Amino acid sequence: TTIMLGNYPSVSYPKSCKELLHLYGCLPDGLYFLSTSSGTSYLTFCDMTTDGGGWTLVASIHENNMYGKCTVGDRWSSQQGNNENVPEGDGNWSNKVTFGTVEAASSDDFKNPGYYEIIAEDMSVWHVPNGANVDNWKPSSIFRYHTQKNFLTQYGGNLYNLYKAYPVRYNAGVCHTNTGPSIPIVYDFGNDESLSTLYGPNSKREYEPGYITFRAFNNEKAALALCSGLKPKGCNIEHFCIGGGGFFAEGSGRQCGDFAGFDWNGYGTHSQWSASKEMTESVVMLFYR
Ligand code: G3P
Ligand code: CA
Ligand code: CA
Ligand code: CA
Repeated sequence: TTIMLGNYPSVSYPKSCKELLHLYGCLPDGLYFLSTSSGTSYLTFCDMTTDGGGWTLVASIHENNMYGKCTVGDRWSSQQGNNENVPEGDGNWSNKVTFGTVEAASSDDFKNPGYYEIIAEDMSVWHVPNGANVDNWKPSSIFRYHTQKNFLTQYGGNLYNLYKAYPVRYNAGVCHTNTGPSIPIVYDFGNDESLSTLYGPNSKREYEPGYITFRAFNNEKAALALCSGLKPKGCNIEHFCIGGGGFFAEGSGRQCGDFAGFDWNGYGTHSQWSASKEMTESVVMLFYR
């Protein structure tokens, strides 16, 4: 049997929402097709309005089960259990594995080829209530901000390259000494005070608001990937940083998972180290521009 592959027109879309916006000048927020350099097409969300628009959704970090500690769905930490021998966990912060779909990005983890393909300058982050419909992502966000000084240029233009330089790996560094970049943010919804309603009261003593921080270590050398809205000052960062490697020594694995130790003093209680229910039940969406 011979399979004949005829000539067919190949469709190529812009590489990013920023390119798309430049082509058309003005477009609404919504779902658009983009293409990678090798010609793969994918659908994602473009924020075409915030601070001039051109923001491409490349990933979402969703905690599907706060009680599941490094179990199924903990793709941004480990789905392989709390294990010292798997120090990078699933390794998705610095590999080319993709998963999820844009329309389910508020209901499950999402990572598209833009995460490693797009060469960007800045980032925007949205905390969106779990399960929100695409049209409601922006209006229902509990916290939104962006960077504005082209920091990504110094780190290879995207998170894939940044995390190659700052591995999210247990025992690859220690608290304070090996903290990755902390970048100042501009709030699009919320402010410094919002953080204290989202993260626990004990956590407030351990961070400075107004930043996004990439790769930091806690007291026990567990690696956390992203601290949204802040720069850590203390070392109990597992209560306000997300994603991570595959091993958390404290509490026999109770801090292992996409939202780490957000539930240390109870689920959604917002007491002591615990984050609020609204924070625990919101997905973290990452955009590039
Ligand atoms: O991260 C907090 C932990 O290190 C101390 O917790 O329960 O002794 O207050 P706890
Ligand atoms: Ca989990
Ligand atoms: Ca997840
Ligand atoms: Ca701790």
